[in-house]
Amino acid sequence: MRVGIGFWGLGMIGKTHIEALRLMQVMFQELPEVSAEVLCTRTAEDYKKRLFGKVVHDSREMLNDERVSLVDIPSPNYAHFEQAKAAIEHKKHVYLEKPLAVKLEEAGELVKLAEHAGVVNRTAFIYRFVPAVAAMRELVKSGCIGEVIHFHMRFYHYSYLDPKRPSSWRQQSALSGGGSMLDLGIHFTDIINWMFGETDEVSAVQRTVIKERYQDASRTEKISNDTEEWCASIIRMKNGAAGTLESSRVSTHIDSGTTIEIFGTKGSLKFDAGHAEVLEHFNFQTKRIETISEFEDIGKYSSFLARMVPPARHDCGFFLNAHIASLKSVIEAASGKDTNPEAATFREAYKAQRLTSMIMCSAAEGRNVKASEFPMIQEEGRK
Ligand SMILES: NC(=O)c1ccc[n+]([C@@H]2O[C@H](COP(=O)([O-])OP(=O)(O)OC[C@H]3O[C@@H](n4cnc5c(N)ncnc54)[C@H](O)[C@@H]3O)[C@@H](O)[C@H]2O)c1
Repeated sequence: MRVGIGFWGLGMIGKTHIEALRLMQVMFQELPEVSAEVLCTRTAEDYKKRLFGKVVHDSREMLNDERVSLVDIPSPNYAHFEQAKAAIEHKKHVYLEKPLAVKLEEAGELVKLAEHAGVVNRTAFIYRFVPAVAAMRELVKSGCIGEVIHFHMRFYHYSYLDPKRPSSWRQQSALSGGGSMLDLGIHFTDIINWMFGETDEVSAVQRTVIKERYQDASRTEKISNDTEEWCASIIRMKNGAAGTLESSRVSTHIDSGTTIEIFGTKGSLKFDAGHAEVLEHFNFQTKRIETISEFEDIGKYSSFLARMVPPARHDCGFFLNAHIASLKSVIEAASGKDTNPEAATFREAYKAQRLTSMIMCSAAEGRNVKASEFPMIQEEGRK
């Protein structure tokens, strides 16, 4: 089935999505028939007209266009809920950037609406599409490092360490829903749920370093920043494992700043986004460090990913590679050929936002937070 995509906005990550679409059309011969049918945007510069079949300002024009079967939403967080809801109401499949919504309750409503409507619903949790991260999960599940004792994950940026950088929607919690944890850390709350199952309890601390920023590029007025810029949490899982997750927009990192380490009774595994093409394995029996670079045969999901990410000769770096694989998987699902056994559905995205909300609540209120305080949503079936 042909997939016509309607893009709702074209900011930083929207450009990555369209880049991903164009590149996959060059790289993969076996791709469902797909087109960038419509862009809904506030400004229609000429370059946008070159990239999309049609550029519109009124979203109804996109939503009522029968050639559009999938709506891609890479807009700021505050727009996600209303846009995804409208797309679902028009029976469109939806690919939504993370987080699902500013508020957890709205995220839960989107899960119910999408499942009830029976449309394909996916979120851009791209770390599920990094072969080394997927292999890590397969190796943990197969017992390669024994019983998991603890994990250590961190997601450091220094994008807002410069006090002269003006504020954006990201520094206003009413528009973003939260700071570094909801923006960056949420990628890894998804990975934590995905790798280790259910959470029992969390405890977290946070800090805002630059409490006021210039309102805009004119650098005249300042406004307050009511979001955290660094957050550290300890997460206890129901299976007995525990670990730490840190997110930051103000940490000057010497390595890539984005790392996952898992420590077990038989060894440990380390992923560093700066060397995303490999995974390091410390084997406690041999006391040797093995570098794993072939992932295809590690498990069912790794075999699936091997045909989703660009082949080595077309390597675009792990970030774009993962966006290509994630969008390709959504396009396949929208075309009626869903083969992804581990799709980041809205339900999965809700779980990630739920754990992120627990961490944010713990940091804000200075207390341990139990998972039972945050509702799960009833199963209605997956699409
Ligand atoms: N998955 C990832 O790897 C990843 C990476 C970065 C950002 N993101 C997510 O992508 C989203 C956008 O982030 P960004 O960094 O591109 O932000 P951005 O501020 O660079 O871009 C947002 C764009 O949306 C436009 N916009 C504003 N209001 C809109 C509305 N109501 N409707 C449509 N468009 C609107 C803006 O003009 C801007 O062009 C966020 O939800 C963010 O969390 C995901």
